[in-house]
Amino acid sequence: MRENPTRERAAASTDNGGGGAVPTTSSTATLELLECAPRQRPLLDEVLDGLRGTQKSLPAKLHYDQRGSMLFEQICSLDEYYITRTELGIMQRTAASVAEALGDGCMLIEPGSGASLKTDLLLEAMATPAAYVPVDISRDFLLEAAAAIAARHEVEVLPVWADFTRRHPLPTPAASINSRAIYFPGSTVGNFSRPEAGRLLELFAELLRESQAEQAGGVPAGSVVVGFDCKKEIPRMEAAYNDAEGVTAEFNYNVLDRLSRELGADLDRDRFEFRADWDEEVGAIVSRLWAKESHAVDIAGSTVQFEAGEPIRMEESHKYTPAEFEQLAGAAGLGLEKFWSDDSRDFAVVQLRPLGC
Ligand code: AVI
Repeated sequence: MRENPTRERAAASTDNGGGGAVPTTSSTATLELLECAPRQRPLLDEVLDGLRGTQKSLPAKLHYDQRGSMLFEQICSLDEYYITRTELGIMQRTAASVAEALGDGCMLIEPGSGASLKTDLLLEAMATPAAYVPVDISRDFLLEAAAAIAARHEVEVLPVWADFTRRHPLPTPAASINSRAIYFPGSTVGNFSRPEAGRLLELFAELLRESQAEQAGGVPAGSVVVGFDCKKEIPRMEAAYNDAEGVTAEFNYNVLDRLSRELGADLDRDRFEFRADWDEEVGAIVSRLWAKESHAVDIAGSTVQFEAGEPIRMEESHKYTPAEFEQLAGAAGLGLEKFWSDDSRDFAVVQLRPLGC
């Protein structure tokens, strides 16, 4: 993280055909951007590290270039992919009670800001939010999402350009704050390994505690509202990631195409086969690309050898029982306050509070 975060005034477009350019047209909302993005590791180093290990892997974040983000949108409306519509259904039914649990004058912080329908529902249900603070590592995407929210809601929007998995400062809204809430929907927590998810929840707890300490007048530490996918029958979980149309497969092949394009690699998608499997020990669906045959790949002058049947680990999608998630949160210093779910208990949204606050 940069030592001194800087603030800049940015006019972020709501008219976003192409990635939220700054500044742009007349339909702009002026947003103040808090910049504390860390220097990122070069893509090539990350890729070579992952492919040179004894078990080959690629960082899951590589899925989300422009095409990958589009494919993910398509995944969200697939019949087999129950996650998005189930969580949305929960929020449609319970946004009012979630908002009530957050209280008036709440500053809503969203790590990995999606500007999703779920955020809309929550902001809509909050009578007097103090501010909305989207946090994201992708500056363009952040500004685009922030501007879209600012255009739709009467709330001060204070974007923070940062890696939400690291400590970062929070902006101070104009309105006085009664509480803070970190909203982390979408089962994004599931794409972190269990130890990583624990560390992330710990970081959220710290962020809430620190901002409580900094705030004069004893603002309560606030809470975390997080959505996670529940463990269920294996065939349903596997089908969600091995859809009949092959959109999820394409979402993974797209990473190879992206690396070939951006790094000048000769990763040939036709030499790999996609499959996602439930791993009982890990408690996750693991998505892999399997080499169909033995071959060597050139990546910017470095050679990576694949054996026939060797996998590249692309992504983990962790699933929890409510009790497992409560335990993970508890170990991170967060206690379960509220629990919302659908009738089949396929997905859960929980409110957690720092213990002892
Ligand atoms: C974003 N995340 C919660 C999705 C998941 O279910 O793990 C990403 C995804 N990968 C394949 N399908 C969906």
